[in-house]
Amino acid sequence: MIRNDALPGKLTLYFRRFCYFIKNERFSKKLSYDWNKTQTRFDIINKLIKSKKFKTYLEIGCQSDVNFSKIEIEKKIGVDPQSGGTLRMTSDEFFSQNKDTFDLIFIDGLHIHEQVLKDIDNSLNVLNESGVILLHDCLPAKIWHQTIPQTHSSWNGDVWKSIVQSRTREDIDTYTIKADQGLGLILKRKNRDILVHTIDNFKDLKFEDYYKYHEKFMRLVDENKFLEII
Ligand SMILES: C[S@@+](CC[C@H](N)C(=O)[O-])C[C@H]1O[C@@H](n2cnc3c(N)ncnc32)[C@H](O)[C@@H]1O
Repeated sequence: MIRNDALPGKLTLYFRRFCYFIKNERFSKKLSYDWNKTQTRFDIINKLIKSKKFKTYLEIGCQSDVNFSKIEIEKKIGVDPQSGGTLRMTSDEFFSQNKDTFDLIFIDGLHIHEQVLKDIDNSLNVLNESGVILLHDCLPAKIWHQTIPQTHSSWNGDVWKSIVQSRTREDIDTYTIKADQGLGLILKRKNRDILVHTIDNFKDLKFEDYYKYHEKFMRLVDENKFLEII
């Protein structure tokens, strides 16, 4: 969830909502997740590291290191063009020069579908065979939490569309853990429950479809059972 200090003023946000309402979609129902009652992303990541004996960690998008500083592992790299982590650059710049491989990659950079797809593909290329990719902000509760451009101070972006698209790929196995804004989980193995969807461009998916089918689209996993599927 991004809480951006440099967020445009309220008037700009309302104007953007109005435009989204006219041009994209009108839908007012919301999902009732209470993320204050679930484990945090760093609880889940540290559990995974401990149970799989992972040694190497990459975080894309670190901001003020709220998560990065809590990760307990032998070697960690954090990439962010603005603040936090260990390397000041975008994820694209990082992947174009990186020669390392990783056991665990946490994608939490630019929350826009097209960039998330690139981050997933680049991560798969440097992920060790039994490694895991996690993605933050996969379960927006309201339409305004997932609009592009941002229209609400609490914003997940449209990362969820990248999860739905990944669910249609045969070569990777994708889930979403019900914790901390929704944690996408991608494993480098054959898809065990492929999603068949006929849409040409996943960017065109509607929030209403996500609302109705999100259990199937996102392949939800209980936060206490995620270790069983890895
Ligand atoms: C939601 S914050 C990350 C929060 C952090 N992972 C945590 O859990 O506390 C998103 C961060 O992504 C960074 N970012 C934006 N575009 C990026 C890009 N192309 N590559 C890498 N990071 C990017 C922003 O500068 C921002 O600090």
